[in-house]
Amino acid sequence: MNAPLIDPFARAISYLRVSVTDRCDFRCVYCMSENMTFLPKADLLTLEELDRMCSTFIGLGVEKLRITGGEPLVRKGILTFFQAMKRHLDRGALKELTLTTNGSQLARYAADLAACGVRRINVSLDTLDATKFAQITRWGRLPQVLEGITAAKAAGLRVKINTVALKGFNEDELFTLVDWCAQEGHDLTFIEVMPMGDLGNEDRLDQYWPLSDLRARLATRFTVTDLAERTGGPARYLRLEQTGQKIGFITPLTHNFCESCNRVRLTCTGELYMCLGQEDMADLRAPLRASADDAVLVQAIRDAILKKPKGHDFDYSRQKVAGQMTRHMSHTGG
Ligand code: GTP
Ligand code: 5AD
Ligand code: SF4
Repeated sequence: MNAPLIDPFARAISYLRVSVTDRCDFRCVYCMSENMTFLPKADLLTLEELDRMCSTFIGLGVEKLRITGGEPLVRKGILTFFQAMKRHLDRGALKELTLTTNGSQLARYAADLAACGVRRINVSLDTLDATKFAQITRWGRLPQVLEGITAAKAAGLRVKINTVALKGFNEDELFTLVDWCAQEGHDLTFIEVMPMGDLGNEDRLDQYWPLSDLRARLATRFTVTDLAERTGGPARYLRLEQTGQKIGFITPLTHNFCESCNRVRLTCTGELYMCLGQEDMADLRAPLRASADDAVLVQAIRDAILKKPKGHDFDYSRQKVAGQMTRHMSHTGG
């Protein structure tokens, strides 16, 4: 194999997140503005180009591929791409092929995804109240997502629920969400809201619910034990002793995890973002299209990794938002 990808801070890059579309059938308020302008389809990498791009990264030591969006399952023909990636799982080069989805299309795709070697999926779900769900996604239908999650479970996929912790929105559902996940056998991870995107009327500080506070609330009902284990993503875990449940915490604000970062993000137009919370990026579409010889692309990837920054600058601690990104979360897939 080629030499692995090592960044300037001695971090090995083994995790590629690939946004296959900037489109989504929802408009979560912390992720997109209501009237987003989407990219013309002609600007997107084709499925063949995505294959070549991902295969090149896998040749450079990437072992975990997470497909994101927008909503990845609204990309036309996306199953063909999953089917193509299965060959890397089969030959052992890829350890995990997975996706992060809003769940709306899962009823249709779950069984096929499982057949492509997907074992575990992350589903974004911030509330179990249908009215609040329609409000946070601007028009999403909760029953459609719940049906999708049921289909995923029936297809043998392990489901992790991703819940963005939002002050005044889902604080009152903390125990409802925990209990529902215990009952359904889903993993659960809470995420601190990050200052991404054109905020419009949204105020991140108003929405911000630090997970240190959420943890303290969990401790009023459960005995909470911090776990040392990590799973290759940014989450830290704790266990609720009474139920044995493991809860993930993604805490970019209260507990920075950048020192162990192992990931980069490819957008649907072939830009490589070295950090979610920085603007540095490298265009990989031009080198990909410039030559059929992968050596050109490999060199462009290596050059990009050498520019990976130390971490994000998100900070709300002085009661104002620092490190704000104008780029929407949907652009780089979270
Ligand atoms: P697993 O650990 O494999 O389950 O996945 P993951 O947590 O890496 O992926 P997921 O798509 O579920 O991401 C959950 C949340 O973590 C999203 O809101 C991401 O934006 C956030 N996240 C993932 N990686 C990073 C990162 O490098 N920096 C920051 N600040 N947030 C991240
Ligand atoms: N802050 C934190 N998480 C976010 N997500 C989208 N926007 C934000 C934000 N501003 C989450 C989604 C999804 C994941 C890919 O990113 O809820 O679970
Ligand atoms: Fe769509 Fe996911 Fe963004 Fe919500 S968070 S608008 S479901 S891409």
